[in-house]
Amino acid sequence: MYFISLALGLLAFVVLLLFNSKPAIQYHQKVVPTIYGITPTYARLAQKADLTRLSQTLMLVKKFHWIVIEDSENKTKLVENLLKESTLKYTHLNVKTKEIKGKGVEQRNLALDWLRKYLKTPEGAPGVVYFMDDDNTYSLKVFEEIRKVKRVGVWPVGIVGGMRVERPLVTDGKVSGFSALWKPYRPFALDMAGFAINASLFLDYPEAKFSWKIEAGFLESEILKYFVTVKDLEPLADNCTKVYVWHTRTQNMTRLDINILRHPPINDADIEV
Ligand code: UGA
Ligand code: MN
Repeated sequence: MYFISLALGLLAFVVLLLFNSKPAIQYHQKVVPTIYGITPTYARLAQKADLTRLSQTLMLVKKFHWIVIEDSENKTKLVENLLKESTLKYTHLNVKTKEIKGKGVEQRNLALDWLRKYLKTPEGAPGVVYFMDDDNTYSLKVFEEIRKVKRVGVWPVGIVGGMRVERPLVTDGKVSGFSALWKPYRPFALDMAGFAINASLFLDYPEAKFSWKIEAGFLESEILKYFVTVKDLEPLADNCTKVYVWHTRTQNMTRLDINILRHPPINDADIEV
């Protein structure tokens, strides 16, 4: 009898242990961070082409939330439909640029205001912020690197600043400088496509935002200075030896000016291009 109760007691103990350990294991499982992609965009001839290419890349990325901010007084049907027709999780905002000096400055700041509020809601999943020009070319591999970011991660960018590749230099696993020709005296000689920031830092530093009151090309340094110094940067993409994003630019027709294009034999003004 004594042995039976001992055996039963042992069994109960083992069962309890098994059941108890389950939530503990789940608790320790690492959550895959959401990627918050912030993209300003403005009306021009190639806008739909650029946004189509970008959105269809993003449809292949898991746990991605696209924040698209139009540089316009009102939201346009073109962007609205493009977002609706995608399978993406998105947030559509707009603000017209008042200061022409900084491209995408007010748009990115509006997105950051929105994100700060969203992160405090129950849906606001932990994640990483990536500032994405609408005309760049992104490999799916860059998103895998972004998910590794702890604080601020950096990597090379192809075809930028008059170089084949502009990149952080790495010594003993730490960023020791930058290989850059264009304004190499920038505190962080990086393009916007070459880094991503842990979203929680925007809550820790509520004052962090972009400014147009700075020298051209200093937007990246301006935002990064809130969070890190060069030695804190996390080198990704195989110690910054791989190119997973390119600063491509669509042929320069920046004004949506139909007059510069040849007139067709039949009126096709109704066709959205
Ligand atoms: C480079 C960087 O890659 C940009 O991230 C940075 O904003 C820019 O320089 C800068 O420092 O001014 P670049 O190719 O010269 O990029 O810039 P664009 O791609 O023309 O513009 C950057 C983003 O802002 C794009 O997503 C674009 O659609 C948007 N933008 C540009 C506007 O919303 N409004 C504009 O008037 C111009
Ligand atoms: Mn660009």
